[in-house]
Amino acid sequence: MKKIGVLTSGGDSPGMNAAIRAVVRKAIYHNLEVYGVYGGYLGLINGNIKKLELGSVGDIIHRGGTMLYSARCEEFKTKEGQLKGVEQLKKHGIDGLVVIGGDGSYRGAKALTELGFPCVGVPGTIDNDIPGTEHTIGFDTALNTVIDAIDKIRDTASSHERTFVVEVMGRNAGDIALWAGLAGGAEAIVIPEENYDINEIADRLKRSHERGKRHSIIIVAEGVCRGEELSKQITEATGFATWVTVLGHVQRGGSPSAFDRVLASRLGARAVELLIEGKGGRAVGIRKNQVVDYDFDEVFSNEHTLDLELCKLSKELSI
Ligand code: F6P
Repeated sequence: MKKIGVLTSGGDSPGMNAAIRAVVRKAIYHNLEVYGVYGGYLGLINGNIKKLELGSVGDIIHRGGTMLYSARCEEFKTKEGQLKGVEQLKKHGIDGLVVIGGDGSYRGAKALTELGFPCVGVPGTIDNDIPGTEHTIGFDTALNTVIDAIDKIRDTASSHERTFVVEVMGRNAGDIALWAGLAGGAEAIVIPEENYDINEIADRLKRSHERGKRHSIIIVAEGVCRGEELSKQITEATGFATWVTVLGHVQRGGSPSAFDRVLASRLGARAVELLIEGKGGRAVGIRKNQVVDYDFDEVFSNEHTLDLELCKLSKELSI
């Protein structure tokens, strides 16, 4: 292993830059050359590849987004696209690739590895939905962005005695909704992993209203339904007027939290070590605060599980 590449792919997440920095610095520390692939797999197909030096990754650890840019690339899902990618990597003399992204990005990395080109996956997504790792890079920052928004919504909700539905991202996973709901003291959390009963939510809201509570916040994960839809159901079941806030892409930006920067640094560095050790076809992750690595197949043969104990706790605390 003399030259490695690094790319970011799929939806960006805060901390991707810290991961890129760790990959570049760790590789140079081990006397490897590093190449940045700009624009995800699309950039790879198009040969948008440039050498990175120590200074290329200076002043980025605290920045959101990704300096390598990102894309969602349909062509790379085809064998033809993947072969074009391998050709470009070989043309630049690159021997291994670190792919920072979510499970879609891992599929591309697995395909490249099967074509004889070793890749290591680093989990970068706000959704926290990659099996095998307890945290993904960007989740903590996104969560704090959501909490900040909930706290602000609560201020105005209390002043006006209003009920708010807050729709958060997460694709098919409820992690952002669940953690944000628990940390933000929401009255109800609606996530794809659990069926919800609108009458039970309505009773809960009415009870807290009768107790004199001046605000109610319900968090809904986008994987369940739109905030508007839930809001209508709540109004029908309670008779309360309901306001909706969709947080959207604000959740994907911003300076990464200290947790995400440290996680990204640890995982990015480990990914380089794996390539040096000749262990392509693996993903890195964190379990019980230990950096682990495991086969890509483990990602695809397992379902992401959410901590249902937290659901139970949030219900107990929001009676
Ligand atoms: O996977 C990250 C994510 O932000 C999801 O939470 C969301 O569903 C999706 O990406 C949005 O993707 P796009 O920015 O391509 O619309």
